Amino acid sequence: MTAIALRPYLPADADALADLFRASVEELASDDYSEAQRLAWSDAAADGEVFAKRLGESLTLVAMVEGEIAGFASLKGKDSLDMLYVLPEAARMGVATALAEALERLAGARGAPEVKADASETAAPFFEGRGYIAMSRNTILMGGEWLANTTMVKKLSGPGVPHNPPKALQ
Ligand SMILES: CC(C)(COP(=O)(O)OP(=O)(O)OC[C@H]1O[C@@H](n2cnc3c(N)ncnc32)[C@H](O)[C@@H]1OP(=O)(O)O)[C@@H](O)C(=O)NCCC(=O)NCCS
Repeated sequence: MTAIALRPYLPADADALADLFRASVEELASDDYSEAQRLAWSDAAADGEVFAKRLGESLTLVAMVEGEIAGFASLKGKDSLDMLYVLPEAARMGVATALAEALERLAGARGAPEVKADASETAAPFFEGRGYIAMSRNTILMGGEWLANTTMVKKLSGPGVPHNPPKALQ
């Protein structure tokens, strides 16, 4: 099993996460979005300062595998999974699972009764597997391209939901 470590985002990670974001969209989403759509999506990282600000304003966690950054995810406010991106070389190793699990715990610790995500077509089966329910289909205009996603929600209340995130991540 792959050992995955999580740590909080640091401003010095911004460039590496922008590169990872672009690679993740370009390769992992290629079955679900056209080249033009992926380029428009990747453009969210075109301005390094804006991208770094977005990362820093949310609670962003970085996943490390063998000392290298393998993915990242961010919780916006108390209940919104804003970003979840995995390095293509580290796909299907449980990196996104580790990140989502940690952010769901943190959302619970912030008092959120549920957590939501606007899931890409690529990520929808991942979220479904974690118990998220599709609420609405959306079409978003990005850089002149229309991209489909699905707003998905997972209830956090109920037995067995952990509300005790590691202190270092609170
Ligand atoms: C979606 C994404 C985050 C998944 O990351 P990952 O680290 O590969 O996911 P995990 O290894 O934790 O997968 C856990 C389970 O989710 C499901 N899953 C993950 N990716 C899947 C895919 N592309 N298709 C179908 N099911 C998938 C599988 O059931 C998987 O378990 P398995 O590998 O034992 O079959 C990754 O593919 C990615 O970064 N995609 C591009 C960017 C993107 O769409 N981000 C989401 C924005 S909302």
